[in-house]
Order: sequence, then C-alpha cells, then structure tokens
Amino acid sequence: MPRPSRRSSEAATSRASPSAGLEGIVAGRSAVSWVGGETSDLVYRGFDVRELVPGVPYESIVHLLLFGEPPGSDPSPIVTSALAAARTPAPGVLQTVDALPARLPPLEALRTILSALGDGSFGYPPGLEDGYRLIAQSPLLLARHLHRGLGLPPVEPRPELGHVANYLWMLRGREPRERDVAALEAYFDLLADHGMNASTFVLRIVTSTHSDLASAATAALAALKGPLHGGAPSRVVEMLNAIATPDAAERWVRERLARGELLYGFGHRAYKSEDPRGLLLHEVARRVAKPERLALAETVERVGLAALRAAHPGARIFSNVEFYSAVVLEAIGLPPELFTPTFALARTAGWTAHALEQAADNKLIRPDVEYVGPPKGRRWPRPRGRGHAPGARDGA
Ligand code: ACO
Repeated sequence: MPRPSRRSSEAATSRASPSAGLEGIVAGRSAVSWVGGETSDLVYRGFDVRELVPGVPYESIVHLLLFGEPPGSDPSPIVTSALAAARTPAPGVLQTVDALPARLPPLEALRTILSALGDGSFGYPPGLEDGYRLIAQSPLLLARHLHRGLGLPPVEPRPELGHVANYLWMLRGREPRERDVAALEAYFDLLADHGMNASTFVLRIVTSTHSDLASAATAALAALKGPLHGGAPSRVVEMLNAIATPDAAERWVRERLARGELLYGFGHRAYKSEDPRGLLLHEVARRVAKPERLALAETVERVGLAALRAAHPGARIFSNVEFYSAVVLEAIGLPPELFTPTFALARTAGWTAHALEQAADNKLIRPDVEYVGPPKGRRWPRPRGRGHAPGARDGA
C-alpha cells in the first residue's frame, strides 16, 4: 500500500484539536474498495456494487477483491477450487473448537475459532493460502460448534455447492432453498468489504505489527462485535419485536430517543446519503420477508428517520446496512445470534484483501496522541521522615 506522505501525517497529528473518532482523517491508502459517503456509492476495485448485486457469486467477489480483476467465468474457478482445497481444518484446530463450551454463543465461539485457526501455521507476511483457510474454514468450524451445542454430529461440506449455499447446508443439514441462497449471496457480496471501517482498521493495525492473519482477524472480529459497528443487526430485530405493530412505532421511537438511547440500524460515520447496501438489501427484503414484517420495518425506518432528523437537524442521518440486513437474515431463517457472525464470515474476503495490501507496503501503524494530562514536574509523595533519594537502598 503506498504510504501517505510524512507532510500529510504531520498535518493530521499537529492539529490543535484532533478529530474525535478520527472522523475525517485519512488513515492510509487502499485500492480494495471505495465508500462514496456523499454520493451513496460502494465500489469494489472500480466496480459499482449495483453492477454486481444480485447475481455475482461470492467466490467471484472474493476473486475480485483478492486479485483486483474479475474472474473469466462465474463462479471464479480459481477461488472455488482454492476454497475447496482449504476446507479441511488441522486436527489441532478441530480439537480446540470441540473443547469450547457447547453452549458458548456463536459470536464468542467464532472469536475463539478465528484464534484457534492461528495454530502457529499462519505467519507473516500473510499469503493467499492463509486467506483461503480463513474464508473456507470459519463457516465450517462455526457450523460444527453449533451442531455440537445441539448434540449433533457436524455436517460435512458438499463440494458441488457454492460457498454461501454450503454455509446454509452446514448450518442446517438440509438442502438450502434457492431463494434463501440468492438472498444470502447478495448479503455476502454486499458485506464483503467496506473501506477503512473500524474492524478493517484494527486488522490493518495488527497486520502492520507483522502479526499473522488469524490474529488480525480475531482482533477485527472483536471490533466488529460492538453494537456501534457489526453488532447492530440483532438489536434491530429486538427493536422490531418490541415495537410489534406499525401504529406503535412513533411512540416507541420517541420514548427511546427521549431516554437517550440509540436506534440501531440508523446513522453511519461515512454515509451522509443513502447506504447503497441498505437500498439493495431493501430490494432483497421485498422478495424474501413476510409482508407484515416488511411493512413494520418500513414504518419503523420512516418514523425513526423522521425522529432522528428532527432531533439532529443537519446531521444527515439515513438508515444503515444493518437495518435491512436484519430483515433479510431473519427472513431466511437465521437466528439473531448468528447475524454478526455471518457478517464476519462475509467480511473475511475483505479482511484478507486488506491484510495482503497492508503487508505489501507495510509501515507500522502507530499514531500520536495529544497528551492532556498534568505537565511534567510533579513530585511523588513520600512519607514524612522516611524520604529516600531516588535509587538509594537501605544499607547500601
Ligand atoms: N440513534 C440515536 N442517535 C443517533 C443515531 C442513532 N442511530 N445515529 C446518530 N445519532 C446521533 C449521534 O449521537 C449524534 O448526536 P450528538 O450530536 O448529540 O452527539 C448525532 O446523531 C450525529 O451523529 P453522527 O456524528 O452522524 O454519528 P457518528 O458518526 O458519530 O456515529 C454511528 C455513527 C456510531 C453508526 C451512529 O450513527 C450509531 O450509533 N448508530 C446506531 C448503531 C448502528 O446502527 N451501528 C451500525 C453501523 S453500520 C456498520 O458498522 C456496519
């Protein structure tokens, strides 16, 4: 990755008042994806996601993100065979995953699964093979853990199924419906990468220290987990369940905001216009969600936006990707506790592309901080009469 010039990084760090949350700070360069927050754009390697979704298989999105070019045919033969070859976890990894508490929730389990993948065989710099193992084995190991929790044997992957269909197959052990696969494939495609979001930034920081991809992905998932980031969608479902009927939405939203609580699925650091992923997932939701659920979600979206815009005039708040992600994932039968883990599985493609890019032109990511503590020169309190000169020892 080409580095920002020293001049520009000095300018950023010498501001009198550094930007809270690094808002507006350009923290590097990347050719993987572009988030056009003002124009409602998401572009993968020059391709508008609207051109790709729905229709392009996830394997081809992985190909595009990793190699910078689209494959010659869909689904990418290179990525399809690489993922199939990388799908067998090492015995030690299986042992660690099978030792997890059977009832450990899926998100916590996946965090440990990513860590368990890093059994010493991932190194620095990360390579494509590391990425294929991360992308191929994470869904398999998560599904294995969930089956163990139910006292069931794992469901083996089927080589003839695509990556997304295989995930559904391994989760459920029954033939996935075409409609569900298409909806989840659109979701995986749209969530595969997203510029310098918080979890990708974390992954790039960890990679910049010459750590390995499994460690960087574990750290990235820890960041993704938070409800301000990828932890939001299950809370969208909680919100819809609590509201229950469209006519209750206005009052519920008003009371929630009056208590100073967040409306999940609304607002975004980068998008000051519509989140294009949200628009596309709304389309998918129209195809897969039950009409009453969709109507409820659309009412909550309208009422929530009106209330937020009234409370924060000029803030340019829109619904974000998580809002209709929740509606889509719920409609295809995933339980809310699987929403964020599924987001992470989709993002393993982008995480890999960013780790490779970071390592290709690495510089340790280590910003400055503006010190606002007391100035140098304070004296350490000593008990009266028992003062010691610094470094002096009794009897010395
Ligand atoms: N609910 C209530 N208030 C909100 C929301 C919301 N969803 N979104 C923004 N606001 C408020 C902010 O608190 C802020 O208020 P203030 O001026 O009194 O401090 C004001 O609106 C302006 O906010 P922004 O500066 O536009 O928001 P910021 O960039 O700081 O935060 C964030 C973005 C964290 C996503 C925020 O909108 C939020 O908390 N949303 C809810 C959680 C969520 O849905 N997260 C998923 C994001 S998508 C993703 O990460 C994949």
